[in-house]
Amino acid sequence: MLNLYRRHRVLLGVFMLVALVALMFGCTPNDPQSTFDADGPVAQSQLNLFWIILGAGAVVFVAVQGALVYLLIKFRRQSNDDIPEQVEGNHTLEFAWTAGPTALVILVAIPTIFTIFDNQVSPDPGALTVDVIGHQWWFEFRYDHPDDPTKDVVFAGDLHIPINEVVNVNLDSVDVIHSFWIPKIAGKVDMVPNNDNTMWIQGNQTGTYYGQCAEFCGVQHANMRFKVEVQTREDFDAWLRAQATPPAESQDPLVVEGSKVFRSAGCSGCHATDPVANDGVPGREGPNLAHVASRTNLAGGMFDNRGEDGNVNLAILQQNLRTWISDPESVKPGNTMASEGAPYIDPENALNEAELSAIVAYLSSLK
Ligand code: CUA
Repeated sequence: MLNLYRRHRVLLGVFMLVALVALMFGCTPNDPQSTFDADGPVAQSQLNLFWIILGAGAVVFVAVQGALVYLLIKFRRQSNDDIPEQVEGNHTLEFAWTAGPTALVILVAIPTIFTIFDNQVSPDPGALTVDVIGHQWWFEFRYDHPDDPTKDVVFAGDLHIPINEVVNVNLDSVDVIHSFWIPKIAGKVDMVPNNDNTMWIQGNQTGTYYGQCAEFCGVQHANMRFKVEVQTREDFDAWLRAQATPPAESQDPLVVEGSKVFRSAGCSGCHATDPVANDGVPGREGPNLAHVASRTNLAGGMFDNRGEDGNVNLAILQQNLRTWISDPESVKPGNTMASEGAPYIDPENALNEAELSAIVAYLSSLK
């Protein structure tokens, strides 16, 4: 019996060691959402704070556990009738264990408070500003129109920012509380309906980063994702200008047919195909699709449209659109399109194969 117990204890020990190693590998900087690979001043200041708090915690852990082990050994019972010396009250000791933790808390509080204010107050209030609006379960992004300050350029799925520049972010939500988090660049601030939370971000390397909703917001919370493209200023300007321009209309007969089906089937009730909206006016319920064919991901991160070269691949995009539109509920259970979209709630309005192909052709023409 005792042998069995020992063997189980060894197994338990091995299991815990493996679990610990696995957890530590979860923190490797190579992971796309690792906070240990900070890229930008906000994430870096948060990482620094993490190390300070971890250090303070380690000091407490070692001191308490060390004292515990030391005292257990030093004052262990030597014999059956051994009564240790009875001591009551020690002012020096009591003062020390009050002053020590107080000093430690102050030591942690000072950098914490400075970091919180540094992260909240933008160093450049006049810099590029993006409105980020949370929806169940996708992110909407709005930029000031490059030529007309009364207009917004509306976008979904991918956030683009210029490298080495402060970007101010206004956070809002149309339904429940979400949270905006780009682990390698900055995080995380709640997106609360009718409450203007703000933050600022900055990326110091070009490339693709991964963002994630960080507040439980319903069944598809884990699938509320976005990508962040950090670009050179020239690339960013060109991108924004392209986004602000309505997509070119193709005269391909299938595309023209798809455009008609898009309207007659009710898709346009929730999805705009004009990228420009009046400043501050809420968009339609679903993501703006003006340039959907240029996006690297669809349906709040459910589909990746990129080919091996890292660019959007037309065949992959079309396959993803087809899978998504033919049965959104099976792809992302609980989503609004499946529960409210005209083709999905009434079998009489369901899209047939020809209509589906036409819509896929139309949407994949919206570059
Ligand atoms: Cu949005 Cu979790």
